[in-house]
Amino acid sequence: MTILDTVDGLTGQTIVDLTRRHTIFEWSAQAAVDPIPVAGAKGCWFWTPEGKRYLDFNSQLMCVNIGHGDERVVRAIQQQAETLAYANPFMATEPRARLGRKLAEVCPGDIDVFFFTNGGAEANENAIKVARMFTGRHKVLSFYRSYHGGTAGAVMLTGDPRRWPAEPGMPGVVHVLNPYHGIQRGWDTADVALARIEETIQLEGPHTIAALFIEPVTGTNGVLVPPEGFIRGIRDLCTKYGILMVADEVMSGFGRTGEWFSVDHWRVVPDLMTMAKGLTSAYVPLGAVGMRRAIADYFQEKVFFGGLTYNSHPLGCAAALATLQVYEDDRLIENARRMGDLMKELLAGLEARHAIVGAVRSLGLFGIVELVKDRASMEPLAPFNGTSEPMKRLAKFFREEGLYTFVRMNTFFTNPPLIITEEELRHGFDIIDRGLFAAEAGQDKDKDSGVRS
Ligand SMILES: Cc1ncc(COP(=O)(O)O)c(C=O)c1O
Repeated sequence: MTILDTVDGLTGQTIVDLTRRHTIFEWSAQAAVDPIPVAGAKGCWFWTPEGKRYLDFNSQLMCVNIGHGDERVVRAIQQQAETLAYANPFMATEPRARLGRKLAEVCPGDIDVFFFTNGGAEANENAIKVARMFTGRHKVLSFYRSYHGGTAGAVMLTGDPRRWPAEPGMPGVVHVLNPYHGIQRGWDTADVALARIEETIQLEGPHTIAALFIEPVTGTNGVLVPPEGFIRGIRDLCTKYGILMVADEVMSGFGRTGEWFSVDHWRVVPDLMTMAKGLTSAYVPLGAVGMRRAIADYFQEKVFFGGLTYNSHPLGCAAALATLQVYEDDRLIENARRMGDLMKELLAGLEARHAIVGAVRSLGLFGIVELVKDRASMEPLAPFNGTSEPMKRLAKFFREEGLYTFVRMNTFFTNPPLIITEEELRHGFDIIDRGLFAAEAGQDKDKDSGVRS
């Protein structure tokens, strides 16, 4: 590297070439990755070194909830770095003290004690430990359509195909079916879904089950907003059998759904709650396990067997405190609700105009579109765990038009930062609208020329 490299910066192409040569991209065969070089970001936008701008319709990885480059959070990180960049986790620091108190204020019910981690997967790893230690039981239940992280235990909790290459892993994980069965089979009622879970609990032996992990609104597996009565029913089942209810709010928390946490929609208090992403809006890494007072009290006399060098990292805690202040000062949770109402209308508009839209779902600013070949068959536009030429063409269209969002299997997401304005939201949906018209035209062309998608 020359001095000039650091002064002038690298070109987008050089950044891409070097990152591809010397670093590994996640969940991908490396030859297939085609990253966007990112030089900077502000608000709902980011840009390349050459100045191509993208509207960030996925808050990067559903995490930059307050938007990019908020000076208040940047200053808090700078000030903390100058005062005390690090203290080991056996120390007590001011940002840690303040953050614990603040989270106790915003978390539901008597969840008012927290163990801080580096991210969501570690939060779930530690939630497994806490549940096992507290109950003395070893099994954990989770859903097939779920993602709980990429580390050894969390990836076993994960029900989706990202688990498969890690198997056989941690024993004692049992997966249960969600109320949703894909675009062709649709939804169970809450009663049917709950009865199936209760049957699994009975067959596994309730006295062997420490915890049931749920994403109250499932994230990457489809923004699955559960049927009315489901989350309360899960709470009741857990209480009935002495199983800890663990709400993974890593993606659905911190205003994403128009409440502080998605469980708040149903006024349910889980026993443990895991969080990350929106906690700091990803300005620096931080995750947490929140626990109800009775569970925390257990560790007054019993050892908490868990540790991380970066537990309660001062920079993470300071960033989280400043981020939580931004949610409050700028009334971002209210904005997520208001813009979420508009997004629901815009999603419904897509469904009305485009025959390839099989379903739309959203809660707050957590949204998804499922694409199908046609509404008669409801066959997904890409197979489960795969992609297709039409989905690739759509992703390419979004990218060329300056819209960044997450495209997965037969779906794409609409998860902008909570600061998004009406104008920006409409701009994003205008690109999506044109992309879907182009996809439909492409499909007709494929049909005429006999190409199978
Ligand atoms: C619901 C959920 N849980 C856990 C995780 C893992 O978090 P992390 O990537 O910070 O380890 C994610 C990440 O996307 C998630 O969506």
